[in-house]
Amino acid sequence: MSASEELESLAVKYAKEAIQLEGKGSRRIAATKYQRAIEVLLKLCSLYPAAPQNKLYMEHAEAYRKRVQELQSDSEPNSRPVESADGKDSKNIKFDQWVLTEKPDISWDDIADLEKPKRAIEESIVFPVRRPDLFPLGWPRGILFFGPPGCGKTLLAAAVASEIKGVFFCADAASLMSKWLGESERNVSQLFAKARENAEKGQPAIVFIDEIDSLMGVRGEEVGGEVRVRNQFLKEMDGILDKKRNYHVYLIGATNKPWVLDEPFIRRFQKRIYVPLPDIKARMDMFQIYAHDLKLDNNVDFAELARVTEGYSGGDIRDLFQSTQLKVVRNFFTHGNVTDLASVPDPITMEDFQSIVTGRRPSVSQTILKRYYDWDESFKAS
Ligand SMILES: Nc1ncnc2c1ncn2[C@@H]1O[C@H](COP(=O)(O)OP(=O)(O)OP(=O)(O)O)[C@@H](O)[C@H]1O
Ligand SMILES: [Mg+2]
Repeated sequence: MSASEELESLAVKYAKEAIQLEGKGSRRIAATKYQRAIEVLLKLCSLYPAAPQNKLYMEHAEAYRKRVQELQSDSEPNSRPVESADGKDSKNIKFDQWVLTEKPDISWDDIADLEKPKRAIEESIVFPVRRPDLFPLGWPRGILFFGPPGCGKTLLAAAVASEIKGVFFCADAASLMSKWLGESERNVSQLFAKARENAEKGQPAIVFIDEIDSLMGVRGEEVGGEVRVRNQFLKEMDGILDKKRNYHVYLIGATNKPWVLDEPFIRRFQKRIYVPLPDIKARMDMFQIYAHDLKLDNNVDFAELARVTEGYSGGDIRDLFQSTQLKVVRNFFTHGNVTDLASVPDPITMEDFQSIVTGRRPSVSQTILKRYYDWDESFKAS
């Protein structure tokens, strides 16, 4: 075990002991255990300042600190321990904030290509919601989108939310992973309970979990008990897959690290759809979308631009357009007559685009693409 792993498991140990002690009513000793856990977490952060887990560690430390304060200020010896908190507990996530009340302003037409994922959504959600009678054998309830960063997974989910009449629950895995051991499981089960409640009232409920890979404990028991969260998740998924219940609860998961998921988890998504890098035609479609509000010179050749942006993700293309636009505006501020309100920047030329393209490599590497390809070969289900 590395030093950081050792420290991490020490923090877990202290936090668990604290929770057990709280359960037994020993609040004062529990507070000292939380305090120890905080010290270890802070030490971890100071030893490895660049570690990606630090944000999570700090969140845990902050939550423990609050709990210590509560334990110290409230001398009631038999008050409810953390583990048995009920749904009304103020520390629980407020579900209204997960329910998307304002539909995002994105439609299918704002998404270039991605025909396969769009079709998967139609077949698994749109059609069954409209005519459940046409699906005597049931229909898929879980869709997993996987693929390189910046290729439209989150965008697709936003479009589902705006195109489908239903209640959309949106939770990124980080907000599910609450600060308290044991509480994350409860968050997961409450999220699904809410979704079922809506579905039973006759409204389709779509649960979207972004970056779903972070629900998996990569190294077994981590701070926050990710393993138990994962198990709770599997249980909830079995609940929505139950063929006898014909209500409309759907789960969409998105990840750019599918290889982190284990097989029981993967199996429960009956559709697993690769969201790939845009091909040449998709890139041209994106240019149309992004050029919509821009003024372009006649010499801009989208076919040529599509050729030189081979390997770019959708995000890369959006950045290319933004940077090019910025370049022209900057130029205007430097050389143009800014005070004259009738004067505007020059149209964007092909050379403007080219100068930006030369300075930027695709954000997704060939090595990682091969990894997606291999994962798709092993696990695809469309
Ligand atoms: N097919 C597409 N059509 C139009 N724009 C796209 C498309 N794919 C990506 N984009 C642009 O790239 C941005 C990033 O896409 P998005 O956030 O959906 O990527 P993602 O696949 O969820 O990435 P990550 O794995 O990093 O979460 C979008 O906001 C959008 O501007
Ligand atoms: Mg995303």
